[in-house]
Amino acid sequence: MPPILELTRVTKRFPADKGEITVLNDVSLSVQPGEAVCLVGESGCGKTTTGKLVAGLHAPSEGHIRYQGKDIWQMNKDEFAQYRREVQFIHQDPYASLNPAHTIGRMLSFPLKYHGITKDEANTQARVRELLKLVDLTPVDDFVHKFPHQLSGGQRQRASIARSLTLSPKVIVADESVSMVDVSIRLSLLGILSRLKQELGMTVLFITHDLAIANYFARDGRTVVMYLGRVVELARTPDIMLHPQHPYAQALLGAVPEADPQLTRNKVRVPLRSLDVPSLRNLPPGCAFHPRCPVYAQGVCETDVPQLTPMPDGRIIACHVAVKNIMSE
Ligand SMILES: Nc1ncnc2c1ncn2[C@@H]1O[C@H](COP(=O)(O)OP(=O)(O)OP(=O)(O)O)[C@@H](O)[C@H]1O
Ligand SMILES: [Mg+2]
Repeated sequence: MPPILELTRVTKRFPADKGEITVLNDVSLSVQPGEAVCLVGESGCGKTTTGKLVAGLHAPSEGHIRYQGKDIWQMNKDEFAQYRREVQFIHQDPYASLNPAHTIGRMLSFPLKYHGITKDEANTQARVRELLKLVDLTPVDDFVHKFPHQLSGGQRQRASIARSLTLSPKVIVADESVSMVDVSIRLSLLGILSRLKQELGMTVLFITHDLAIANYFARDGRTVVMYLGRVVELARTPDIMLHPQHPYAQALLGAVPEADPQLTRNKVRVPLRSLDVPSLRNLPPGCAFHPRCPVYAQGVCETDVPQLTPMPDGRIIACHVAVKNIMSE
């Protein structure tokens, strides 16, 4: 099946004090319709930026982003508008994305009417009720007339998902906030997204810094591990969780708390050479992970940037040492 989304050698630079800063470098990824893909990595590695590029909220500095085979930045106005309806980004912070002056009912009915999705008032109200039920904001009558400040954090998050569903998207990019500490909110969000994926066949790109969450959400899908703006390993989720091959992916898994036995069973404890994360403004030459890497090979890692390389088991890795080891097995 052709991919629904395809990023090809995408680089993103932002203007900075003096010149520019490269926050994404040579990122390639293709996503199949109905697939769940998780993006994981430390804070600042470029997860949200990738999500925003996928949703057309930023343009790439280099490379291509294709939706259903078409470069989104080559689309005509109508095609781009349709793509923007079909690929929805759910913000990290539902406070920032809900208009405090509008009731939940108005917030959901406006796009339905504006885009001519529903034909008359009765039709609109019926759809609003359906959307509230889909995200478990029930009994519906309790919620249609409420304002965002009258909802709990979890309810607001669900209202925000309901709004992103008004245009019947095919793809959802859900960016989980690091500040969302409340476990019950995180789990309810995950439950709803899993259901939408199953019931409506949606494609979901889920962004999280938490490997246990990625393991839960994308267990049938794939996980992408990012480090300082690059993809370092991309594989089926169980392959990453149980047998990570990139030393950074191994270190990330090694840091999962003991409380998650499924993830810690095969845990490899390899001490990093340094705990300092280099700055994007001053990246080390060669592999950006080499100053911290426990398996660093002198003469290669500090000079050559490792390219993403497909492995026999289907995973893709950017690491001189891991690729050599796997190929010589
Ligand atoms: N509009 C912008 N202008 C300049 N720099 C930006 C902009 N947006 C993001 N950045 C920088 O790009 C880098 C990647 O940011 P991004 O938000 O994608 O990281 P992230 O992986 O989502 O991190 P977190 O887990 O903390 O949400 C950071 O160094 C950030 O400061
Ligand atoms: Mg982010």
